[in-house]
Amino acid sequence: MTIDEPGPTGGRPPAGAVLRPHAEQEYAGELARLAEHDDRPRPPGWRLSPWAVTLYLLGGGLPDGTVIGPKYVGPRRLVEVAVATLATDRALLLLGVPGTAKTWMSEHLAAAVSGDSTLLVQSTAGTSEEAVRYGWNYARLLAEGPSEKALVEGPLMRAMRTGSVARIEELTRMPSDVQDTLITVLSEKTLPVPELGTEVQARKGFTVIATANDRDRGVNELSSALRRRFNTVVLPLPASAEDEVEIVARRVGEIGAALELPEGPAGLEEIRRVVTVFRELRSGVTGDGRTKLKSPSGTLGTAEAISVVTSGLALAAHFGDGVLRAADVAGGIVGAVVQDPVSDRVVWQEYLETVVRDRPEWLDFYRACREVS
Ligand SMILES: Nc1ncnc2c1ncn2[C@@H]1O[C@H](COP(=O)(O)OP(=O)(O)O)[C@@H](O)[C@H]1O
Ligand SMILES: [Mg+2]
Repeated sequence: MTIDEPGPTGGRPPAGAVLRPHAEQEYAGELARLAEHDDRPRPPGWRLSPWAVTLYLLGGGLPDGTVIGPKYVGPRRLVEVAVATLATDRALLLLGVPGTAKTWMSEHLAAAVSGDSTLLVQSTAGTSEEAVRYGWNYARLLAEGPSEKALVEGPLMRAMRTGSVARIEELTRMPSDVQDTLITVLSEKTLPVPELGTEVQARKGFTVIATANDRDRGVNELSSALRRRFNTVVLPLPASAEDEVEIVARRVGEIGAALELPEGPAGLEEIRRVVTVFRELRSGVTGDGRTKLKSPSGTLGTAEAISVVTSGLALAAHFGDGVLRAADVAGGIVGAVVQDPVSDRVVWQEYLETVVRDRPEWLDFYRACREVS
């Protein structure tokens, strides 16, 4: 079966068999309840009002008792600014260090606003203008010449035609001249197709959410002309260790359920420890402020903490007694910290021998780390 031929379920695998459902699939229930209760004005082309989109992102309760789980944990004002921007004619740029939920927030915003988070351009140094604008079905193009049928629309063009949110991941990784093709789209809301002598005019509801890493080195700066088309929202690292523990615990629970890992106790103590180690190493100082530390080269963000704990849960479930213990996370932590085998190892050894060893309640963790280091 080719991808064009819908099977019995419309070409899609049955629900529950998908490894990672899109946000609008996974949270279809919440989005439907929100739409039911949402009596505030919706901007043209929006599925929900800005109020309901914000509620979807930050979580809260509905009058009928439905509980909407928080997707993003962070300052309310940030989310409000992001949502308000989407209701204007300006595009939204989410900026931040790796693991601050830029991609995550852009997916959920697109799901809540347009009901579709899949109109996505993943930028790399090799991203071409075709990937951003449109391409051609070359067999058709050669046989019939340029025609509507031979044109293959990209995610951006589709978003314009349907009045939806287009997502551009890692905007600053695409070459500058390709970035420039976005300027017309964002300022004129039009994508010309000179080959056909036509253009696609964006329907109401069309907008762009781009993400960019503000720590990327050696990438293409955003031109000032393009930057002016965006409102920028900077996503911070989680403010407190407790916030970060909550984010990790919630996400690990969801991922564990999706992977159908045997259910075990949450292992909150272990999660707290992973978060503490990562926060101390990335901030360069221990939690009590007493000891200065060297920071390792790699990113020790929330996303890394989530993956260390998820792997630990799999170890505990399949090879341990189901309870997440120090030995299940030690390997993951060392792997995440020691990216450069020489310099990071020195940083790690110093942390292990001066900080970890001095915490009596961390003895099990110290031993487990010694074993894998
Ligand atoms: N403030 C936060 N609130 C909720 N989830 C978060 C937060 N920060 C990080 N995460 C989690 O971290 C993971 C990685 O985020 P991601 O969007 O890939 O980061 P980025 O694109 O900024 O590098 C996501 O699974 C998300 O659930
Ligand atoms: Mg990302």
